[in-house]
Amino acid sequence: MSAMDQRYELYKRMIDETLAGYFTPAGDGADGLREAMRYSLLAGGKRVRPVLCLEFCRICGGDPVSALPAACGVEMLHTYSLIHDDLPCMDDDDERRGRPTSHKVFGETAAVLAGDCLQAEAFRAVCGAEIGEAERFRCVRILSRAAGVEGICGGQIMDLSGADQDADALSETDLRKTASLMGAACAMGAAAASGDEDTVAAAEAFGMALGMAFQCRDDILDGDGFCRLLGEEKCAALTAMYTEKALELLDRFSDTGFLRSLTEKLSGRSV
Ligand code: IPE
Ligand code: IPE
Ligand code: MG
Ligand code: MG
Repeated sequence: MSAMDQRYELYKRMIDETLAGYFTPAGDGADGLREAMRYSLLAGGKRVRPVLCLEFCRICGGDPVSALPAACGVEMLHTYSLIHDDLPCMDDDDERRGRPTSHKVFGETAAVLAGDCLQAEAFRAVCGAEIGEAERFRCVRILSRAAGVEGICGGQIMDLSGADQDADALSETDLRKTASLMGAACAMGAAAASGDEDTVAAAEAFGMALGMAFQCRDDILDGDGFCRLLGEEKCAALTAMYTEKALELLDRFSDTGFLRSLTEKLSGRSV
């Protein structure tokens, strides 16, 4: 196993163990909802976003353990976006993370509420991080922007509005729908470590570029988005361009070996 894979596994274990502690049964009549939340949250995602959060905290001089609740918040928000993305009124998908989608198992009502709840609980988790008050506030502000109209929800409505998109519109869609949360994950790690404004902005810019490369790669895997519009070859070139940009944006940080290897790995990923 490479040094990058080893650290990834370590972070992933920390994240999975912490996530498993949330939303355990409380015997209060809402346990069915908790079960639906845990079904999607613990279904074995790659955990790319929380890993980025922990690593940015580390390279910016913080203790990754202190950023764990914030990292889990990012993953909760991501999971909510996937549950809703799969609903019949959105992409109407039957499978996610190798299992039947939430609404297929629990019905639409529970799936909508599990998503709603994971979005709200994401912010509660961030508020539980043992970092300074100012750092927590910055993390909440960063995450809320990535979730809202300038982020995931804005991107989803652009994606689902049905209009054929040109390359510029598709870029804007992907920036909001996918890149914003990757950027937020990195920025929250830097903010949790008390990084200054420029450092947090640089972390966010890196995450956005990586997020664009990630979405382009996803398009190749799904035959969707840029791949459908431009063809596989041009979509692969775009993936490489965003990957290069992400790597350049790491130049202002030190100790970036892990992030460089991860960036290269994700741009060629097959799942
Ligand atoms: C899927 O994200 C949705 C996209 C933005 C392409 P991931 O590929 O990170 O999904 P999980 O979390 O590993 O399931
Ligand atoms: C995933 O987007 C959902 C969000 C980014 C909010 P897609 O619809 O493009 O991706 P998959 O293929 O369902 O994971
Ligand atoms: Mg979608
Ligand atoms: Mg989808």
